[in-house]
Amino acid sequence: MTKSFLQQMAQRAGKRRSNIIVALDPASNKRNLKQFAARTIDAVANDACAIKINFHLLLPLSSKEISEVTRKAHHHGLLCIADIKLNDINNTNEVALEHLSKMGFDAVIANPFMGTNTLAALTKKAHSLGMGVIALVYMSHPDAADGYGLQVGSDRMYNIFFDRAIKARADGIVVGATQIDVLKEISTEKKKLKVSLPIYSPGIGAQQGDARQAVECGSNYLIIGRSIVQAKDPAVALHQFRLLTSFSAP
Ligand code: XMP
Repeated sequence: MTKSFLQQMAQRAGKRRSNIIVALDPASNKRNLKQFAARTIDAVANDACAIKINFHLLLPLSSKEISEVTRKAHHHGLLCIADIKLNDINNTNEVALEHLSKMGFDAVIANPFMGTNTLAALTKKAHSLGMGVIALVYMSHPDAADGYGLQVGSDRMYNIFFDRAIKARADGIVVGATQIDVLKEISTEKKKLKVSLPIYSPGIGAQQGDARQAVECGSNYLIIGRSIVQAKDPAVALHQFRLLTSFSAP
């Protein structure tokens, strides 16, 4: 039987003893983006478990070029996550998923603001394509409180998004490494509810989040971009982050 995205992530991370996902985000003045992507994949292949691709590459590269990038990542045993924070009607979400699947992506990041049923439909479609869905619960940037921290009745928006992710059978959630109190709260809630929904945390390094602290507070996977890919030596930068975070399987 084909393994789910959730199982594949745990397996790759376990094999590599690394829970680090490298965000392939080039600086805005970077030229030859395909070469950048290929070189970065070669540099990080041994110490990462997956790569994440955002609009930095999705907009300027063709779908053929993106397919070549995901093929190269897979060849190195890395899974590929599309970070488009998908948030639309069913039909549009499904068309987007089909394109991402054809380009070789294993998962997509989505925004539960779309509503529980729409998120559930997205997850169902993703699973039928052999893909996973990672739902935003609390973003990493300072302004995130304006949306994810809003008080809604007796709850905060992030509690509602967490609940939607569970109900929609998402394969993971995003909580920024900069949101330590939220990370602790959601991890405690996960234990209480006995749900094994891995937490993906961006915001390390360039956004001041601390890798070790994030893992101690409940992050299962760390998403790191600029501090690795724009470092003088990405392989060395990644290796240093990996040493900071003694790996334990989610
Ligand atoms: P840096 O350079 O800050 O890059 O390490 C982080 C990468 O992750 C994205 N990002 C997020 N993606 N939820 C997401 O789905 C978040 O809360 C979040 N915060 C940052 C960012 O766009 C970049 O690609």
